[in-house]
Amino acid sequence: AMITLRQLLDHAAEHGYGMPAFNANNMEQVHAIMEAAREVDSPVIMQASAGARKYAGVPFYRHLVEAALETYPDIPLCVHLDHGANPAACLRALQSGFSSVMMDGSLREDGKTPAEYEYNVGVTGKVAEMAHAGGVSVEGEIGVLGSLETGEAGKEDGVGAEGKMDKDKLLTDPEEAARFVRDTHVDALAIACGTSHGAYKFTRPPTGDILAISRIKEIHQRLPDTHLVMHGSSQVPQEWLEIINEHGGQIPETYGVPVEEVQEGIRNGVRKVNIDTDLRLASTGAVRKHLAENPSNFDPRKFLKASTEAMKEICKARYEAFGSAGMA
Ligand code: G3H
Ligand code: 13P
Ligand code: NA
Ligand code: ZN
Repeated sequence: AMITLRQLLDHAAEHGYGMPAFNANNMEQVHAIMEAAREVDSPVIMQASAGARKYAGVPFYRHLVEAALETYPDIPLCVHLDHGANPAACLRALQSGFSSVMMDGSLREDGKTPAEYEYNVGVTGKVAEMAHAGGVSVEGEIGVLGSLETGEAGKEDGVGAEGKMDKDKLLTDPEEAARFVRDTHVDALAIACGTSHGAYKFTRPPTGDILAISRIKEIHQRLPDTHLVMHGSSQVPQEWLEIINEHGGQIPETYGVPVEEVQEGIRNGVRKVNIDTDLRLASTGAVRKHLAENPSNFDPRKFLKASTEAMKEICKARYEAFGSAGMA
């Protein structure tokens, strides 16, 4: 059954677990996310970016959600808009039945230019008022996601701020976070702590100087009752990079967010952990491997099944590692 982000994260806070929030674009991802949840008895956050809604088409996306609810009636499911660019995008998600929306006012509508505090409060507060009137939850973001190594956002896949950033913007300020929550009434707050979107987060396994979980602790101490959200939290599994590169892929050396760091975040108020890249890597690796090992196959169901299975294993591992397994 459908559940709001607020209901789900309140439960997560009460029981001290974190929720992976998986980006879904197609039927195989929906299958993987839901089937993994069924196997480990976890609630689900499934999120759609603007790109996902464009890729599937809004009616198809809505019906994928309907199909998930019909097939898994006992799994609490929150359907969330990821990185809404403006209030209109959030309104459209609300109209298509989403139970939660993110208004990302940390960037201007172009999704590239860091925004002023007043702009962020204006658009996010407006969305919160509208969404709450309809019983829908809201995630806001304060601070700009980007690499503390290079000062650049993860722009490999076009997601995030463009160009070099002031490093002080790349770590959320606890006082500003507190002011923002008070000014907007968001249900969950995305913060910046050195992670970035996509596969190219860190050039080496991250240490405290480039992945600042300590900053999450400071924000949590200042805002103990606010549900925190980590974006850009894929682990970028080395084993999937190897499988991809052993089967014709070319992905340079790169590192993601270690599970222990996410767990430390969860001990300090993180309740929603966004994951997209890991599903992309597992899917690509599984398809490359299947086609390499079965050169005569031309039935797409076979390689898409391999993709689904690989993504399902990632989902199960995240539900278990973040503690949401057994909580449905
Ligand atoms: O926030 C970024 C997510 O990874 C979504 O990416 O816009 O390519 O669907 P996308
Ligand atoms: P990754 O690119 O690390 O999977 O992050 C996804 C994300 O934050 C979506 O909002
Ligand atoms: Na989001
Ligand atoms: Zn994100």
